[in-house]
Amino acid sequence: MSPTVNQAPALLSDLDLQTTLRALAKKAANTPLQSRFNLDPNRAATLSGELGPLFVDYAKHHLDTDIITSLCELARQRGLEQQFNALRAGAKLNNTEDRSANYPSLRRWASDGANPSQQDPAIAAMYEAMENLVTAIHSGAHRSSTGKAFTDVVNIGIGGSDFGPRLVCDALANQGLGSLRPHFAANIDPSVMTEILATVPAETTLFVVASKSFGTQETRCNAQAARTWLQASLGREDVSDHFVAVSSKPEAAMAFGIREQYILAVPEWVGGRFSVWSGFGLTVALCAGMNSFCALLKGGYAVDQHVEQQPLEKNIPVILGMLDLWYRNAWGMTSQAVLPYEHHLKLLPIYLQQLFMESAGKSVKADGSPLNNATGGVIWGTEGTNGQHSFHQLLHQGSDAIPCDFIASLSSHNPIGEQHQALLANCFGQSLTLMQGQTAADIEGNLVASGMKADAAAQLAQHKAMPGNRPSTTILMNKLDAESLGALIALYEYRLFAASFVWGINPFDQWGVELGKQISQSLMSTLSGNSDDNNPALDSSTAQLIARYQQAQNN
Ligand code: F6P
Repeated sequence: MSPTVNQAPALLSDLDLQTTLRALAKKAANTPLQSRFNLDPNRAATLSGELGPLFVDYAKHHLDTDIITSLCELARQRGLEQQFNALRAGAKLNNTEDRSANYPSLRRWASDGANPSQQDPAIAAMYEAMENLVTAIHSGAHRSSTGKAFTDVVNIGIGGSDFGPRLVCDALANQGLGSLRPHFAANIDPSVMTEILATVPAETTLFVVASKSFGTQETRCNAQAARTWLQASLGREDVSDHFVAVSSKPEAAMAFGIREQYILAVPEWVGGRFSVWSGFGLTVALCAGMNSFCALLKGGYAVDQHVEQQPLEKNIPVILGMLDLWYRNAWGMTSQAVLPYEHHLKLLPIYLQQLFMESAGKSVKADGSPLNNATGGVIWGTEGTNGQHSFHQLLHQGSDAIPCDFIASLSSHNPIGEQHQALLANCFGQSLTLMQGQTAADIEGNLVASGMKADAAAQLAQHKAMPGNRPSTTILMNKLDAESLGALIALYEYRLFAASFVWGINPFDQWGVELGKQISQSLMSTLSGNSDDNNPALDSSTAQLIARYQQAQNN
């Protein structure tokens, strides 16, 4: 472990960072969002920009160019530019696991300007093997154990080995890109696998066992269940033609019974939640096509170029990352809503939950010293307009201000009449309403004008008043496709990195999930009654839950 690698040069102390952010926020809070637009007619043009295939509008934030300059100066003084350079140079920024985090090197592989001689051979070998597998399956060179072409692909994986391919396959579904039908099994709950197996044909189903470690309980159990089902359904012992694996531990996949030529090896440094760009995108390449997978990488590469070439003040992911940090540390905001007004991005909030919360849910810095400020908050959301009939009440009138990301495409793959126009009217209307709000006095006036008695109008107006002044970003794309999705995912990655590097944390490890995994393993034997029921280490609440489970098994 090299504890100093990921540490931003300590040019500015935590305390100074915090003090400066708070002072900035205090000043900015004097100017309501709406009035910022009145003060500057060019505001929207100044505070927005193109990011590859995306258009990002961050004008509805507590920002102006002076504030951006100050936030970027803070980022500079915390070594953000050096950290980005180190990331691109392949430095071991994931210091607790002694691994690099050079995700741009994955996306570069698909870029037009990439020089093959400058490619990392391990990366080139991974994509070549991926392409070969995809071609073999698409062409029918590789068939099922009964000699049939595959029709269905079940991706068995969890966390980063699930969310990314699931998001991309769902986003590109119905775009007529491939003939293989994707399915996803993540949870260990036996209902998941049972219900998938009830819908797929045994003879023509391929299972992609995606596990970086190849040791994850959920994935191993689901893969074993799939194998047992295939053996029973096909009446044969050897069903290995139906399995491919994606892993950084090919030997473990082989030991599990997956044939060597069907194992796609991914370099160890690729972290689960950043792995959709790598061989872990195999299910995407199988079901949406290799060209779509490459287009995803190209979209991400456009963002790499922007981040590398633009100064911090014009660097859209950096500005959004600094806003995240500013709202968290100086405005006391504890969560962020992700609101896709695009049905085929409905999985984006859960994808981003892992990306942000597994990365920035940290309480120590990269060097192990305690943090003196809050880090990542809660990411949540759902697709519009569903959320409007649910939690948007809290967004508009709840006691906490929650910054929102609105994401939409300008045209639909499935137009019906004016429905898509109505979707966008709702999307734009929500960010406008969050910002504008409405005063009790205005509402009261309208109610009285419509004939309500003054007393009743005054009272009802208190309930109807909307505070407004609530910030949001809007991200637009022409039409949802692989390239715009790649850019969107990369935008969020860099935004996360920007805030994390300024906080001084390591966003690439996830030690917090380990203890829970160990304890659940040890409780397996307790639940099955193979260990001492009177284990004094167990609290009475857990002991009582276990006793109830055991009793239910005996009934
Ligand atoms: O939940 C912890 C985690 O390690 C994630 O970071 C990872 O994406 C997931 O488990 C799956 O791990 P693997 O790909 O090794 O099965």
